[in-house]
Amino acid sequence: MKTQILNAGVDFDANIVYAAELIKQGELVAFPTETVYGLGADAFKEDAVKKIFLAKGRPQDNPLIVHLSSIEQLEDVAKDVPSEFFALKDAFMPGPLTVILKKSEKIPFVVTAGGDTVGVRMPSHPVAKRLIALSAPIAAPSANRSKHVSPTTARHVYDDLAGHIPLILDGGECKVGIESTVLDLTSDVPTILRPGAVTSSMLAEILGEVSENGRIIKIAKSPGMKYQHYSPKCAFVVASSLRRAKEEYLKVASEGQSPVIISKAPVEGFANIAIGEGESAAHNVYAAMREAEESYDYIIAEQLSNEGVEASVMNRVLKAAGGKLI
Ligand code: TXA
Ligand code: MG
Repeated sequence: MKTQILNAGVDFDANIVYAAELIKQGELVAFPTETVYGLGADAFKEDAVKKIFLAKGRPQDNPLIVHLSSIEQLEDVAKDVPSEFFALKDAFMPGPLTVILKKSEKIPFVVTAGGDTVGVRMPSHPVAKRLIALSAPIAAPSANRSKHVSPTTARHVYDDLAGHIPLILDGGECKVGIESTVLDLTSDVPTILRPGAVTSSMLAEILGEVSENGRIIKIAKSPGMKYQHYSPKCAFVVASSLRRAKEEYLKVASEGQSPVIISKAPVEGFANIAIGEGESAAHNVYAAMREAEESYDYIIAEQLSNEGVEASVMNRVLKAAGGKLI
């Protein structure tokens, strides 16, 4: 299969219309969202959704998020929606938050991996919104090969999925850069299954209480969490300080390996990719991981703080490192 990349955005509406036609015909389209690129299919079409798992090499027991462009679409997707959802919607939607609700009968079980719940999200990216509005609620995971880092540019999607999907809509770099926060509203206490740009304290402000398994790396309930996600193609460790990162760098370099440090700020005299702090770190981290694995064989990431969006970035980085903190 040949994979086309088409520009999307205000001047390229015809391309979004074309992409919506593909979705309506049961085909896959990769599209930009504010978090990462998604690989979408019509959420109501079982055969179309099955193609997502094939294209990604994704295990069938990992459920997909359903993306909406308007709140009116919710009634076809979820049922028994609690009032908390609407409070969250007013505060954070459209935006980088996914909420787990009870699924409607209309959503096929292939979307929810056989479960009775469904993840719902309203992306804020104008291309995603328009694509959904012109077609249907779209089931979409991140548009990477299973186990690779999530894509934040159309080129990343192409690198992973060329030949497996017909179309990638190019909407530029994703603003947020890491995947949405996943919040389970079907448990007694709302529970964060995956941290993201909408943080626990932001959620607690709206909901009163939120459970977040204490440590950021032990968020175990999301079915996807048992797979080692986000793994780069080479050795990867997290260093507890920049000094520790430099020590490790010199050690592995002396053993003949080619290391690189992913750090907050530029580090002189060392192969290095700086990603900044806070939201900038989230925006840059996946591109940095891809760049590092292309040119080096040993990635050393400097540890960020345990606060806010940096904690969410560290969740992904520690996962990539298989938990190896030195
Ligand atoms: O930002 C995002 O969320 C991106 C963009 C494309 O929207 N999507 C994304 O999808 O990251 P994916 O499939 O790569 O990750 C979705 C996560 C998985 O860990 C999955 O297990 C969890 O959400 N999830 C989805 N539906 C669920 C459900 N019904 N119950 C529990 N966890 C669920
Ligand atoms: Mg993913």
